[in-house]
Amino acid sequence: MKSAVLGIETSCDETSAALWVDDSLAAERTTTQLLHSQYGGVVPELASRAHEQLLAPAVRGVCEDAGLSMRDLTAVAVTNGPGLAGALLVGLSFAKGLALTAGIPLLGVNHLEGHLWSATASGQQVECPFLALLISGGHTMMVKVRAFGEYQVLGGTRDDAAGELLDKTGRMMGYPFPAGANLDRDRLLYDRSAKQSPIPRFPRARIADDPLSFSFSGLKTAVLYYMRRNYNMQDGKFQLDDQERVAISAGIMDAVGDILINGLEAAFNGPELRGLVVAGGVAASRYLTSRFQEFTSRRGIAFWAPPFNLCTDNAAMIAYVGRRRLQRGESSPLDLSLNPTASLESFSAK
Ligand code: KG4
Ligand code: ZN
Repeated sequence: MKSAVLGIETSCDETSAALWVDDSLAAERTTTQLLHSQYGGVVPELASRAHEQLLAPAVRGVCEDAGLSMRDLTAVAVTNGPGLAGALLVGLSFAKGLALTAGIPLLGVNHLEGHLWSATASGQQVECPFLALLISGGHTMMVKVRAFGEYQVLGGTRDDAAGELLDKTGRMMGYPFPAGANLDRDRLLYDRSAKQSPIPRFPRARIADDPLSFSFSGLKTAVLYYMRRNYNMQDGKFQLDDQERVAISAGIMDAVGDILINGLEAAFNGPELRGLVVAGGVAASRYLTSRFQEFTSRRGIAFWAPPFNLCTDNAAMIAYVGRRRLQRGESSPLDLSLNPTASLESFSAK
């Protein structure tokens, strides 16, 4: 064994540790904190406390899975932004403590950069330059990846993230947080159902002067108005039956699919990009995946999607980026600060 890089990810509500040994992912353990579902969103203070309890067992667990001890570690890579300040602090403090006591290098990793490489972290041979579409609960952006460390954000959302839109409209329909997987399942169910309720047609916003940007807040408002027009409220909940819910979910997913495909059409306007990489929790959608597959095969370009567990937040992608940086002789100072609003371009070679 030449190198064993531990990755740590605690930027939001997933507590994750992973071990990258030499050239492959040796172990990964992720716990999604389910406690937030009753509050309709991630509660930062509770997330930090849960990270404190879950992180050390996750790190011990990946070492056990890989048959290594903490003394075998070559370096520790940790997400230091963007994310929730308190949550990031738990991972960063742990990583610093480990780097100091074990005398190994610390590598601060940008969470968004991690997502760009999550398909690669799963062992897929991704070819540069590619376009990464990052679609999660907190982010929606298209990034041109020329090479490792060379990123150009082409466009992003002007308001809500795609996952946020799914979570908020799902909540209107009575689904617990996070709701994306429910809407996705409904979309597939609709095609298999008797289709008694027609799919409502919601608007697909386009930003006139910038086809590379997205907007989802108009869609959210349109869904709310549609619900108000068609259903009564009782105890703060719209009264709709399963068939109606499935049809509305289908209408929302269709609109999200069209909005994202419009952005991709604009981004792939020349022959330069070799293919599409998708990442983020929303990329776990089977319906959207089929839309992306259709788009890339129609355009004759490659499509790389991470497996479900690497779509959502995970430490494998953080360990992978840490390993690449280590190979380039890079490391971070032990007084590395967290950066809750870190952007991607601040990490790019222009
Ligand atoms: O990347 P992620 O785990 O966390 C961040 O937001 O950073 O993404 C979570 C988002 C949530 O909005 C959730 O509703 C959505 O991913 N999601 C899905 C699916 N699974 C999770 N959206 C659509 N289809 C799914 N199967
Ligand atoms: Zn994420």
